[in-house]
Amino acid sequence: MNFRQKEKLFKYLARHFDSMDYPPIILWKPIKRELIKKAWRHRVKKIINGALDYPGLYIHIPYCQTKCFFCKFKVRVGNSGKMLNRYLKYLKNEIEEFSPLLKKVPFKTLYLAGGTPTIFSAHQLDALFTLLEEKFNLIETSQRLIEATPATLSLEKLRVLKKHGINRLTIGIQVLDKKLLTAINRRNQTEKTVRSCYNQARQVGIKIINIDLVVGLPGQTAASFLKDVNFVLQLRPDAIHIFSYEEENLVIFYMMGKRITDKDRTKRDQMLELADGEIRKYGYRSYRGEAYLLSPGAANFQFQYRYSVNGSLLGLGAEALSYIPGYYAYENFKTEEYLNYGDKDQFPPYLNGYPLNKDETCTNYIINNIRDGLDKTIFRRLYRVDFNKTFRKEINFLKRLGILQESRERIKLIARNDFEFRTYSKFFFSPRIIKELKAAVKARNK
Ligand SMILES: C[S@@+](CC[C@H](N)C(=O)[O-])C[C@H]1O[C@@H](n2cnc3c(N)ncnc32)[C@H](O)[C@@H]1O
Ligand code: SF4
Repeated sequence: MNFRQKEKLFKYLARHFDSMDYPPIILWKPIKRELIKKAWRHRVKKIINGALDYPGLYIHIPYCQTKCFFCKFKVRVGNSGKMLNRYLKYLKNEIEEFSPLLKKVPFKTLYLAGGTPTIFSAHQLDALFTLLEEKFNLIETSQRLIEATPATLSLEKLRVLKKHGINRLTIGIQVLDKKLLTAINRRNQTEKTVRSCYNQARQVGIKIINIDLVVGLPGQTAASFLKDVNFVLQLRPDAIHIFSYEEENLVIFYMMGKRITDKDRTKRDQMLELADGEIRKYGYRSYRGEAYLLSPGAANFQFQYRYSVNGSLLGLGAEALSYIPGYYAYENFKTEEYLNYGDKDQFPPYLNGYPLNKDETCTNYIINNIRDGLDKTIFRRLYRVDFNKTFRKEINFLKRLGILQESRERIKLIARNDFEFRTYSKFFFSPRIIKELKAAVKARNK
């Protein structure tokens, strides 16, 4: 395939069926659970010998009070205590299954996300953290993070989070305009609840607070977005994360037939630019092009460690992703399956994943870093190959398109949006993956 043909294929893939993950999830296949456990054993030995960095622990909670119409995640709706207790029971089974393998390893980060992990009651959260502390080595865990929404937080829950050492809390506000909140099916949130839970989180002493907003929603005006930004700036959180709305198959607006046009995207980019100027005036610095921080310590270290040194990640809970560099990337079962098997107190012998040989581990590093500027010296140190020599032809092609910027030390893919990034980052995919992707497209279009 020449580069033009590759570009066409990559655009098709970026538009139709893949996400930002690498290796692409559409190529994943069943891997024996036993092989995954064996890989963890090997990795753990190397970590204990001091050859590798400590891993991160990720816990996925796929439940929310309501499904927001812009949300691209697969979440289940409902907060009945019974249903959540059932989920916790299976999570406990899994924690107990992996605990003996990783007990000796200190985890660097603990991150509970979803969905909305704070959908659990204070009592359920307390029990979950107590179990995690008992079953894993979290003594040296420098960052403990959790995602929340204002409507699911309370002073009681915040006290439980503080008690268990949570030191980075994300409060997802998304938008504040009343009409827009109704339009996105998030009626249970008001300025008052936002302000109150923010103040309570400060009051209990959570060290870092991050606020999530979303921009570019159907029906969102520049005036309402900038009003939200200003509201957040007055609160002065340690970090602000602005997500650019992307259409994906699981988005309800998308299912309803709402589409964003190129004109909408341009408008969204202009809104972001205006916000950028405003946020910087308040002393925030842009981080990886996606978040604003008051200080470097306010970053999400689980993401950072994984991106910067190809760290490993143990994901537990339905649909959680795990990553063992040099061995496998894999995904846990869908929620329904997870609950089904958990019933039998035994999970099935296969998980969906992809073997990570040296090429794939190296590409993963590139994909995770090239948008912010990949450091060529670090790349050479990690993979013992020269970036420019390895990708000479790709670099020349992308430079001709004006999408790659290079200095002596760094190389940066200057994508204007996720679609462009998903398209052009694929030029660094391993030949094996490109071949498999081509075959997958062919099979789909038969
Ligand atoms: C797991 S989600 C939500 C966490 C929390 N439940 C909340 O509602 O704030 C994390 C982030 O993904 C972002 N997100 C969800 N759907 C998106 C979409 N279609 N495009 C871009 N960002 C999206 C949201 O802005 C959200 O802050
Ligand atoms: S945005 Fe948050 S609360 Fe809304 S559906 Fe998505 S994960 Fe759930």
